[in-house]
Amino acid sequence: MTLKPMLAALAGQTQTPPPFWLMRQAGRYLPEYRQVRAQAGGFLDLCLNPELACEVTLQPLRRYGMDAAILFSDILIIPWALGQGLRFAEGEGPVLDAIRDASGLAGLKPEGMHDRAAPIYETVSRIRAALDDRTTLIGFAGSPWTVACYMVEGGGSKEYAKVKRFAYTDPAGFDQLIDILVTATVDYLSAQVKAGAEVLQLFDSWAGALSAADFQRYSVEPTRRIVAALKALHPAVPIIGFPRMAGLNLVSYVEQTGVDAVSLDPSVPPEWAAAHLQGKVAVQGNLDPVVLLAGGEALEQAALSLLDQLGQGPFIFNLGHGIIKETPPEHVTRLAGLIRDWQPATKA
Ligand code: CP3
Repeated sequence: MTLKPMLAALAGQTQTPPPFWLMRQAGRYLPEYRQVRAQAGGFLDLCLNPELACEVTLQPLRRYGMDAAILFSDILIIPWALGQGLRFAEGEGPVLDAIRDASGLAGLKPEGMHDRAAPIYETVSRIRAALDDRTTLIGFAGSPWTVACYMVEGGGSKEYAKVKRFAYTDPAGFDQLIDILVTATVDYLSAQVKAGAEVLQLFDSWAGALSAADFQRYSVEPTRRIVAALKALHPAVPIIGFPRMAGLNLVSYVEQTGVDAVSLDPSVPPEWAAAHLQGKVAVQGNLDPVVLLAGGEALEQAALSLLDQLGQGPFIFNLGHGIIKETPPEHVTRLAGLIRDWQPATKA
């Protein structure tokens, strides 16, 4: 049985050309997304509407034929499903009813999570039923640290002062929050697998805000626990970790968490990743989203150089972070063509 290209790469096989998908591939850069988004009402309404969420998940695949679909949802669905107040304010991003200390944890209701998250699982099964036999469905969640950042800060942040102050002044209380999130993440991702997700990605978008010691405690350890629990439940489902801006901490992350692949942000030198990471796990990334926005020569050069540097081992072509909403859709067409036509230098 031959594996789908994405699953083959995750199993450690070199694919020529490599499979590709793009973080935030469904989104505001596509006119057809903006149309459905307007029809749904708010962003959260769209995430919780299985018919429309399935539709926007499939939109980029119809245009570009990516090797993977990623569930259209958000990492903040877990806090919302645990009962935390969440809204997406137009133009300012997510706003949560912040939990500032351990006393706020009592308001979280893990026992109600699956009921509230049920529309997400329904979306997963609809997407899976609509995919052809070469396209892989990725489910996802945020990592506990990154989700805790939003839960404690109440939204985006520059300094992470509130969440770090919680962790430093009440480590035992903060560990309780991390424990709640580890359990919820395992339950939530396991339900996505049962609904049809074939690969899981953990987004640790704010891993780069942590010192090395805190990275070990709040990124590596919770991720290791989540991966171990999911592997016990679903041994065949590959897991991709994305510890964004982790720098040199990528090595301990790859060696200790048990992930099958690591997603790289644009700051990671591809040749370094080829030498130090790709022998251990598959790598995914890491084109700068601004290069895709810019297009032209810069896009061609950067994409080909990335392919040359990582394409001769287990590799999934992706961006180093989400597509920027001003990106011209034709630039994605051009990128898809560059990837499909690429040949390794030795074979050319
Ligand atoms: O990749 C995909 O296409 C799947 C869908 C997806 C979304 N968010 C949709 C979304 C995924 C995987 C996410 C993950 C996510 N959400 C992360 C981790 C990845 C990263 O970007 O670092 C984070 C930190 C969030 C939290 C979040 N959601 C923020 C900060 C924002 C506001 C920023 C913005 O672009 O408006 C969101 C909203 C959001 N999530 C949008 C989309 C398509 C935009 C909502 C809209 O349509 O207006």
